[in-house]
Amino acid sequence: MAGGESSERPEVAYGLQDVLAFESEVAYIDGHAPELSVRGYDIADLAHNLGYEQMAYLLLNGSVPTPEELSAFSSELAAQRELPDPVMDVLHSVPPSAHPMAVLRTAVSLLGVLEPDAEMVDQEHLLATAKGLVAKLPAIVAAQVRIQAGHEPIAPRGPELGHAENYLYMISGAVPTEPFRRAFDAALVLYAEHETNASTFACRVVVGTMSDYYSAIVAGIGAIKGALHGGAIDDAMNMLVDVGQPDRAAAYVDDALAARRKLPGFGHRVYRTGDPRAAELREMALQMAGAVDDRRWFDIAVATERRMAETKGIIPNVDYFAAPVLFQLGFPMNLMTNVVASARVAGWSAHIAEQYANNRLIRPRALYVGDRGRSLAGGD
Ligand code: COA
Repeated sequence: MAGGESSERPEVAYGLQDVLAFESEVAYIDGHAPELSVRGYDIADLAHNLGYEQMAYLLLNGSVPTPEELSAFSSELAAQRELPDPVMDVLHSVPPSAHPMAVLRTAVSLLGVLEPDAEMVDQEHLLATAKGLVAKLPAIVAAQVRIQAGHEPIAPRGPELGHAENYLYMISGAVPTEPFRRAFDAALVLYAEHETNASTFACRVVVGTMSDYYSAIVAGIGAIKGALHGGAIDDAMNMLVDVGQPDRAAAYVDDALAARRKLPGFGHRVYRTGDPRAAELREMALQMAGAVDDRRWFDIAVATERRMAETKGIIPNVDYFAAPVLFQLGFPMNLMTNVVASARVAGWSAHIAEQYANNRLIRPRALYVGDRGRSLAGGD
C-alpha cells in the first residue's frame, strides 16, 4: 500500500529488486544456478550454434529459422541496411565531443521521424520495424566508428555477407576472417537479450503507454548507455588500460576498493555466483588473444578478476571479458556500448511485441517521505 494510506510503513522494493512485473516467454534467468535461456535454449548452446541473424529471428518469431526462412530473413536485413541520407548527415554533423550513445539515440529517433508507419503498432508493422532496426543499428555504429577515425562510412554489401560479416566489413572495408566472424557472431548472440533488465524495462514502460516502437527503442538506448548497465563495457576496457599490466592488478583493485569505487564489469543484480555469458566471453577472449597473438588484455583481465575474487568475491559480468574481445576485433573503447545496443535491439523488440500483445499500463507507486500539509496562505 502506498504512503499515507496506512500507519504502517510499507516496504519499498528499492531498485525493484526481485519484483515480478509481468509474465514473459522471451528469456529465463536463474541467478543461482546460474542459468540464462532464451526462448527455451541455453545461452551457451545459442552462442555456439547460431549466427546473429538466427538469434534475431528466434527472438522476433519465437523459433529457430529453417534454412529457407533464414535466407529470406537475411535478404530482408540486407535490403534494409543502407541508412537514409538525413541520418548520414546527422552522423557527419554532430560535434566530435558528443557521447557516441547520445548520437546513436538521436539517429534512431530520426529514423522514426522519417518512417511514415512509425505510429502503427500492430504486430505486422512491429516486426517490419524491428527488422529495419536490427539491420540499421549496426550500419549507424559502423558509420560512427569510421567518422570518428576521420574516414568516410563504407556502404554495406549484399546478403552474400552475413550480419556479423557485414558489420565488420562496414568498419574495415575487408571481409573478416572466419575466427573474427565467429567471435563477433557469438558476442552479438550473447548480447542479444537479457530478460527484464533496466533498458528492456524502459522499453516496456514506454510501449505500456501505447507510445510507438521507436520511442521505446530510444528509451532503451538511453537506459543502456548508463555506467551501471551497458556503459560498463567501455569503462571496463578503460580500466584494463589503466591497470596496464598484470602485476599492477592487485594494487589497482585494492586501491579502488579502499576508495569504495565500483569496478566496471564486476557484479550483477541477478547473478550472484557467475554470469553464464561471462564464462563464454572469457573463453572467447582467450581465443581472440591467440588469434591476434596478443595476450596482454586477457592476462590483465585475469589478474584483475583474480584479485576481485580474493578480496570482494565479486564475479565478472558479461561486459568484463567482452571488452577485450570487442577491442581486439577493432572497436574503439568509446563505442563498445553502441555495439551492445545494436545487438540488444532484437531482445528489446521481442519484449516490445510481448508488451503490446498483452498490455497493461506500467505505473508503480512511490513511498512519499516529504512534507505534507504546508500552506501558501500566509502565517508562519
Ligand atoms: N565493484 C566493487 N564492489 C561492488 C561491485 C563492483 N563492480 N558491484 C557490487 N559491489 C559491492 C557493493 O559495493 C556492495 O558491497 P557492500 O555490501 O559491501 O556495500 C555489494 O557488492 C552489493 O552491490 P550492490 O550495489 O547492492 O548491487 P546492485 O545489485 O545494486 O548493483 C550493479 C549491481 C551491476 C549495478 C553493480 O554490481 C555495479 O555497479 N557494477 C559495476 C557496473 C557494471 O559492471 N554494470 C554492468 C552490469 S551487467
